[in-house]
Amino acid sequence: MTHFLDIHKTDASALRDILTKAQAMKDARLGQPKGTPDKDAALEGRMVALIFEKPSTRTRVSFDVGVRQLGGETLVLTGSEMQLGHGETIGDTAQVLSRYVDLIMIRTFEEDALLELADHATVPVINGLTNRTHPCQIMADVMTFEEHRGSIKGKKVVWAGDGNNVCASFLHAAGQFGFDMVFTGPETLDPEAEFVELARSKGVSVDVIRDPVQAVQGADLVVADTWVSMHDSLTTKERRHNQLGPYQVNAELMSHAKPDALFMHCLPAHRGEEATNEVMDSANSVIFDEAENRLHAQKAIMRYCLGL
Ligand code: CP
Ligand code: NVA
Repeated sequence: MTHFLDIHKTDASALRDILTKAQAMKDARLGQPKGTPDKDAALEGRMVALIFEKPSTRTRVSFDVGVRQLGGETLVLTGSEMQLGHGETIGDTAQVLSRYVDLIMIRTFEEDALLELADHATVPVINGLTNRTHPCQIMADVMTFEEHRGSIKGKKVVWAGDGNNVCASFLHAAGQFGFDMVFTGPETLDPEAEFVELARSKGVSVDVIRDPVQAVQGADLVVADTWVSMHDSLTTKERRHNQLGPYQVNAELMSHAKPDALFMHCLPAHRGEEATNEVMDSANSVIFDEAENRLHAQKAIMRYCLGL
């Protein structure tokens, strides 16, 4: 069974193949209306379940459109409307869904729910975000960086703000694609030590620098994300905003990075909080390319999972 659960759990060569395929599929569609199928309809006759236990715009639409472009069909399900949200176990749900569909994508809260689903499913499972990681996003982000600046190997990526689920997948990607990371943010919101160590064990550097200006020196890419994630409690909001204010990505901060440094944000953004409009709408901002590349990267991930 070939699941796509996390970037560090997938071979580096498979990750590279996924991005090569994603770029080729993107190029092949140039100028083609979005609603038309790819010439190579790899998912023809296949049914894909998309389960959401949290809100989503990009993940939901890009997976749904991606499956259709590949000639397949989707079932978009919300956890609360399934028996899953009313006491049925994840294991039973996994086994039942496996009798109906060829692939399952899930966005959920606890990572254990994803792992249990994958454990019991007899079809591939894709991680569409958990509290802990967001691998599909970072596959799209690496693809986006390389489209604009060439190979990401040896480049310096600076994460500013909360060391959250998206930051975790960046750390996984650093180890697999060979780029260096700097985390800048308050100590209370540091990324998980396990993920920092994992990246370092693969030979890349991961530095934690509290001063944001010092952190972005020489950056090829600066990345921000929301200061309060979907799984964070609202009571932490006020405290987070006070702590994270100094880590806002604004034009002044970007002026200390390389002149051609790209800016990324997985979206949705709280404009004026983690990043200013000036940065988000600047010439070096690639936020909408990232969103588009979710579609292409995930099509390649689905094909990888199904061996197509
Ligand atoms: N970036 C991302 O995953 O967006 P959604 O929450 O809209 O899916
Ligand atoms: N860190 C954010 C990412 C949203 C796509 C969250 O988990 O809410």
